[in-house]
Amino acid sequence: MSSPGEAELIHVFKGIPFTTRSSPELLKSLDNFDAREDDVLLVSYPKSGTHWLAGVITKLYTTQVTLTSPIEFGDISKLEELNKLSSKRIIPTHLDYNMLPPNFKNKKCKMIYISRNPKDTAVSMYHYYRDNPNLPTVDTWTAFFDLFLKGDVVCGSWFDHFLSWEEHKNDKNVLFLFYEDMKKDLPKIVHDISVFLDINISDHEIQDICKKSSFSEMKTNTEKENSDPNHTVCALTSNRKLIFRKGTVGDWKNHFTPKQNVKFEEIFNEKMKLSKMAKGIIY
Ligand code: A3P
Repeated sequence: MSSPGEAELIHVFKGIPFTTRSSPELLKSLDNFDAREDDVLLVSYPKSGTHWLAGVITKLYTTQVTLTSPIEFGDISKLEELNKLSSKRIIPTHLDYNMLPPNFKNKKCKMIYISRNPKDTAVSMYHYYRDNPNLPTVDTWTAFFDLFLKGDVVCGSWFDHFLSWEEHKNDKNVLFLFYEDMKKDLPKIVHDISVFLDINISDHEIQDICKKSSFSEMKTNTEKENSDPNHTVCALTSNRKLIFRKGTVGDWKNHFTPKQNVKFEEIFNEKMKLSKMAKGIIY
């Protein structure tokens, strides 16, 4: 089978670019998804630390849990496949709040949202695009920078995504996290997650999870699991090296020109002027 041409890689649904790995039929039928009260949603804009958080959450449970690929990835049979899984399901998604299947909201499922300095997210996404044959070609960082600011990338605008979820940050069933806080004090965040998920855990167990969730441990271990599709949160690649790239805070400084930084901050300040969390997200 030949690989898809550039034009076939992306389609737009409700104004948001999706890869063709998310079939239009699946996206249309998401509203009918039958959520369960004990489902846990792991929500992120791409390249915000989804795999890291997934690693932590699955290690927190001592009972059987199934980590799925994102709900919006696949064809129409996806929802049926998820239906067949026994509980508890940990379901990742990159959907913005408005596109989330209403059943998750009605049943007050627990949702953990992870965000990251969008400058670092943009850089991480650039590398992901560059090295991933399932995404359109981007020739230069400068070209990608413009696409990112316009929201002309998979999953659309970072700003719209963040703002749609920020509105719900104080909902009882939502936990809002930042990548940078996980870097700064992972044991505290693991503790916060355990409280949110009603999991009793000792300090010793928290230390153990943190050790197993370090960048180097995850990178090494998941490279061994490379060939196992069950370990893939992201359905856009089976190449784990694309996911565990650098794992640092502030890599944007190695990519942004001073002019790009000014432009980014201007647009950030404009788009985020109604955000209560805007201060402190970028630096
Ligand atoms: P970089 O590209 O900046 O290295 P996602 O899982 O949402 O696709 O996000 C991927 C980003 O999270 C990548 O960022 C990756 O390196 C980083 N990451 C993954 N696991 C990590 C870990 N254990 N510790 C720190 N960063 C991690």
